[in-house]
Amino acid sequence: MAMKVALLGCGVVGSQVVHLVDEQSEELAARIGTPIEIGGIAVRRIDRARGVDPSLLTTDAMALVTRPDIDVVVEVIGGIEPARSLILAAIGAGKSVVTANKALLAEDGQTLHAAAREAGVDLYYEASVAGAIPLLRPLRDSLAGDRVNRVLGIVNGTTNYILDRMDSQGAGFTESLEEAQALGYAEADPTADVEGFDAAAKAAILARLAFHTQRVTAADVHREGITGVTAADIASAKAMGCVVKLLAICQRSEDDKSVGVRVHPVMLPVEHPLASVKEAYNAVFVEAASAGRLMFYGAGAGGTPTASAVLGDMVAVARNRLAGTSVAEGGHDTGLAVHDMGETITSYHVALDVADRPGVLSKVAEIFARHQVSIKNVRQEGRGEDAQLVLVSHPAPDAALSRTVDDLRGHDMVREVASVMRVETFSD
Ligand code: HSE
Repeated sequence: MAMKVALLGCGVVGSQVVHLVDEQSEELAARIGTPIEIGGIAVRRIDRARGVDPSLLTTDAMALVTRPDIDVVVEVIGGIEPARSLILAAIGAGKSVVTANKALLAEDGQTLHAAAREAGVDLYYEASVAGAIPLLRPLRDSLAGDRVNRVLGIVNGTTNYILDRMDSQGAGFTESLEEAQALGYAEADPTADVEGFDAAAKAAILARLAFHTQRVTAADVHREGITGVTAADIASAKAMGCVVKLLAICQRSEDDKSVGVRVHPVMLPVEHPLASVKEAYNAVFVEAASAGRLMFYGAGAGGTPTASAVLGDMVAVARNRLAGTSVAEGGHDTGLAVHDMGETITSYHVALDVADRPGVLSKVAEIFARHQVSIKNVRQEGRGEDAQLVLVSHPAPDAALSRTVDDLRGHDMVREVASVMRVETFSD
C-alpha cells in the first residue's frame, strides 16, 4: 500500500518535493518497496500554488494533517505557529513527521520529540540544518558510538557569501550584502542571516544531537552577527594568515559538565578546512574522540538541494513504517547544561593603534596580565609616530578577554582598538 504524504507548504522547497516525488516515483517505489503518493498539499492561498495538481490543494491544513488516510506529514512552511500546532496534531493522530523547520526545532524540539516518542512515530528533520548536506543523521546515527567534543559549522550561506566577497574582493559589508540580495541569497530583510539568528537556531539543533542533550534551545546560544565586521578586521585576519568566517560552535567543557553553544565571527587559519568554504556553501567540521576530524560540505539552501534532504527523510520514514518501527530521539538525555559565554574558553585577536614610545607595550601586557590572560604572540607595525600592536591571546575565559578589551579601550595610551575578534584553530 502506498505511503500517503500530506505536504504543508508549497513554496521553493515544497514545490520541489512534489516535483521530485513525481519525477522519481518508480525509482523510489522500487527502492523503498512501496510507492510514495502526495495525498494533499496545504497552502495559504490556492491561487499562488503553481505546477502542482490543483485537486490536491487545500487551505485547511489542520483537516489535512489529521485525515485518516495520511501516513506522513511533511512540513516546509517554517516559523513557530501554525507549524507547531500542526505537527503536534499530526503526531497526536499517529502520523510521522518530516520537517525542515529549524526555528521550531531550536525553540521547542524537546516537546516535539517527546510527543513523537509517546506516539511511537518518526520525527525527521535533516533539511533543518545545512540544507542538502547529510549531517544530522550522521551525527545521530553514524557517530552514536563516538564522543563528539566540538562542532564548528558554516551553517549560513548568506553570511558566508558576504564574508567571502569582503575577503576576496576587498568589498565592504553593505556592498557585499547588496550583491547577496541581488543574487537571491539574502532576503530583503537580511536580519535573520546577518545578525546570526538563523545560524543560532541551527547551532542549538547541532548541539542537541552532538551532545545528546535536549536542553539546548536557540535562547541558550550566544549570538553575534557579522554587521560589525570591518575591512580592518578582514585585513588584520589576512595579515595573520586567517580568513573571517561566521561560525556556529558547539563545544564540550573541559570538565565535561556542560556545553557552550555560540555563533560569532572568528578568524580561522587558512589551513583549516572550513577556511576554504567559499561563496554561499555550508560546511560542518566535527571533532570526535575516535573518528577524529570529519567535514561535511555542500549546498546549505535552495529548493532542490533542500528537497533532497526532505526526500531522504521521507524514504527513511517509509522504510521504518514497512519494518513496523519508529526511531525515537531524546529518550536518553545526558542532561548537560549550557554554560554562559563568559565561561567559554576562547582566544582573542586584538589590534591596537598606539603611540610608538617606551612603556606602551609593557602597559598593554600589564592589562592582559591583570585579567590572567596570557599573550600568545605580539606583532608590531610602525606607522610614523604611531604603531599598530597586534596581540593574540592564549585561550582564556571569554569574560576575562572581554574585560581585557574594555580596559584597553579605556586606556589613554591606546588611541583606538582597531579590531577585536575571536580566533579558532584545531582543538588539540
Ligand atoms: N538563509 C539561510 C542561509 C538558508 O543563508 O544559509 C536557510 O537556512
